Amino acid sequence: MITSMKSMLDHASENNYAVMAVNCVSMEILRAIIDAAEEQHSPIIVNISPRQFKAHAPLELIVPMYTSYAASASVPIALNLDHGQSYEDITKALRLGFTSVMFDGSTLPFEKNIEYTRIIRSLSREYACSLEAELGHVGVAAEGDDETNALYTDVDEAVQFIQQTQVDCLAVAIGTAHGSYPKGKKPKIDFNRLKELKEALKIPLVLHGGSGAGEENIRRAVQLGINKINVCTDLFNHGREALRTALTETPHIDLMDLQHVSQLAMKDYIKNYIAMIGSSNRYDYDVSKAKALD
Ligand code: 13P
Repeated sequence: MITSMKSMLDHASENNYAVMAVNCVSMEILRAIIDAAEEQHSPIIVNISPRQFKAHAPLELIVPMYTSYAASASVPIALNLDHGQSYEDITKALRLGFTSVMFDGSTLPFEKNIEYTRIIRSLSREYACSLEAELGHVGVAAEGDDETNALYTDVDEAVQFIQQTQVDCLAVAIGTAHGSYPKGKKPKIDFNRLKELKEALKIPLVLHGGSGAGEENIRRAVQLGINKINVCTDLFNHGREALRTALTETPHIDLMDLQHVSQLAMKDYIKNYIAMIGSSNRYDYDVSKAKALD
């Protein structure tokens, strides 16, 4: 069933677990995501960013596929625009049926981030959709942004930001970054900052850059208040490696079988991640409330 992301993440925040948000640009990935969630009896979020839909999966084509598969699923599924930065992209996503959007103003000056987030707040409310924003900036792992403390979310600013924007959840920069880290490296998460952010804000917090962060880090981040974890790179890598192995072992494998191998590998990866972040068997919240946004 398709639900709002707000009700899903409020429940996760109240009950101290996190929901996985997985980037999706194809039918195989979508099936991997939804099948994994159903097998784990877990809520799940389907993500796509403007960069991804422009390069690979036009929204007009992929959203009907998301919505028809999600509507028939037995677990709650939210459809979220990831890293929306323009009014045009966000409006398009809302019109096409997303139940949530992220406005990423994290590279803007603080006041501008507030101003633009408030504009998108009004827009998302018109569509009864939930809104994620980002404060601080989760950068790129290959560029060492995870270690750049100046990019981390400031607690006092975050309090002001939430008071003025009233977003439903906030992506925070606490030491993760997008993409693969240099070989052998695990990011160092600022857990004290996370604890302070959760105590001060008391709303669902989001961790971007969920790939390669290390199981111990992820488990501790969930314990301390992360309720949504975005994952893309590691999932795509799993899908690719499964394809590589299948092609090496069976060079003339049928294309449909090949894609299926990759789908199953991605499903297993997602199932394990769901179990790690505590959302297995968690679709017990009142889904009838899930469609209404407060
Ligand atoms: P990774 O690609 O590092 O998993 O990050 C995904 C993400 O944060 C999408 O918003």
